[in-house]
Amino acid sequence: MLQVTNVSKVYPTPRGPLEVLTNVSFSLAPGQAAAMTGPSGSGKTSLLCMLGALDAPSSGTVTLDGRDPFALAPDQMAEFRNAQIGFVFQDHCLLPQCSVLENVLVPTLVARGGDPGETMRLARALVEQVGLADRIDHRPAALSGGEKQRVAIARALVRQPRLVLCDEPTGNLDQATAASVAALLLDLHRRQQNILIVVTHSERLAAQFPIRFEITDRRLRRLP
Ligand SMILES: Nc1ncnc2c1ncn2[C@@H]1O[C@H](COP(=O)(O)OP(=O)(O)OP(=O)(O)O)[C@@H](O)[C@H]1O
Ligand SMILES: [Mg+2]
Repeated sequence: MLQVTNVSKVYPTPRGPLEVLTNVSFSLAPGQAAAMTGPSGSGKTSLLCMLGALDAPSSGTVTLDGRDPFALAPDQMAEFRNAQIGFVFQDHCLLPQCSVLENVLVPTLVARGGDPGETMRLARALVEQVGLADRIDHRPAALSGGEKQRVAIARALVRQPRLVLCDEPTGNLDQATAASVAALLLDLHRRQQNILIVVTHSERLAAQFPIRFEITDRRLRRLP
């Protein structure tokens, strides 16, 4: 369960404190998927960073399965983030010198324990599920934009995180490719029963989600 309680974000700036989010509260259970929309600058990326333990809320709390990552020691927090949270960004940030399979395996490199054979099987299965079995040895430079984004999705899911956060995952893709990447995200979400949150400017993408949130004027509200 993801529980967000009265989260606010204030950035210090030379011109004084800038409040971008005020008293954001919501919860999502495993198996639930939500789209998040809002104007540019409304605080969507800021919120995702707090949900993903990349940035602390100015006030309020975020817990995942009852655990507050900011209450952990720094190394435990890094492990928590790596194991529990999957990120997909608009710019896929793949390692150029690594193959598709190696890129998908990156999050598993720092994982303690686990069965290497099982990890490799899951990574290969994910590469297949995202439709890149015949590109598994390609480096990112030898992939299309949509293919790179599918590698990024497989990488985000390889540790089977509880929470998957996507920031405009289809922002750089044409409409048909965007639709297939979105369908893939939802399909893998159903298989892994994670909590999926997708930030998007695309009404078409947002409409595919059973739960919808909108951020306007520093507030988050759930759309009916
Ligand atoms: N580190 C920071 N310091 C000061 N202000 C910041 C910082 N990061 C973001 N902001 C400001 O906070 C506001 C929200 O930014 P954020 O990136 O969360 O918006 P967004 O909804 O993701 O926008 P977009 O749709 O354009 O990506 C913006 O006005 C931005 O200028
Ligand atoms: Mg943003």
